[in-house]
Amino acid sequence: MEYVYEQVRHNYEDFSSGRVLLNAGGTTAFPVRLASELYLRAKSYLPPERGEQPITIYDPCCGGAYLLTTLGLLHGQGIGRLVGSDIDGKAVELAKRNLAMANPEGIAERLAQLTALYAAFGKTSHKEAIESAERLQERIARRNSRIETVCFQADATGERADYWNAGGQAADIVMTDVPYGNVVTWSSEDADPLDSLLNHLLGVVRAGSVVVVVADKKQAIAHPAYKRLEKLKIGKRQAAILAPL
Ligand SMILES: C[S@@+](CC[C@H](N)C(=O)[O-])C[C@H]1O[C@@H](n2cnc3c(N)ncnc32)[C@H](O)[C@@H]1O
Repeated sequence: MEYVYEQVRHNYEDFSSGRVLLNAGGTTAFPVRLASELYLRAKSYLPPERGEQPITIYDPCCGGAYLLTTLGLLHGQGIGRLVGSDIDGKAVELAKRNLAMANPEGIAERLAQLTALYAAFGKTSHKEAIESAERLQERIARRNSRIETVCFQADATGERADYWNAGGQAADIVMTDVPYGNVVTWSSEDADPLDSLLNHLLGVVRAGSVVVVVADKKQAIAHPAYKRLEKLKIGKRQAAILAPL
């Protein structure tokens, strides 16, 4: 894949998993440059009037919400709501803590925590994390808008979750890297979880929404209820940008 929007490779160390944003055993991160490129491509397909309003982004396999939080920090100006869900309750707890860092209080709390750690242990890694947290804090302050964050436990291959049944705003962009590889596998009895995920998502998007799915190359990302806008190969991954018909 050629980068169209993120042509320049920036230094993304402020976003590194485990530095300011938290990670935990069994959770994965996602390349920041790729996340930004896919988001900007997806956004370019939104109907003009939708792209101009604060949008809702949903990740139905959010893990620790590294991907969602990074998007909030990088592109927060255009984002009104970040919604994440995962089947794993522990991942959801981590996701809540990471998502909080997309707003001023959350990043201030993390900065205070890192400052206390540096005072107690004097580690260089804590000092570097403090510097990164300060830069992220400035970024959030420049944005001068809040992002609502929502996170809940749900099976993305199953029934529509209570959040949406209770009137949760439909997602403008769904962006997700589904389970693959050795670290994370599908928790589902389903014979074709990716197909069921795409079925499931029909209940959370609306006309004009865009769905970005990243997977390994073994899983076919196609579904008769979606039009494929783009198919991309990125190293060992593939991505598809889809529009519900
Ligand atoms: C590759 S990880 C996603 C990482 C995430 N994008 C991040 O930035 O932290 C895949 C996630 O899918 C979750 N998962 C597996 N089966 C699921 C299911 N049936 N429904 C929802 N989530 C599921 C796993 O718990 C894992 O957190």
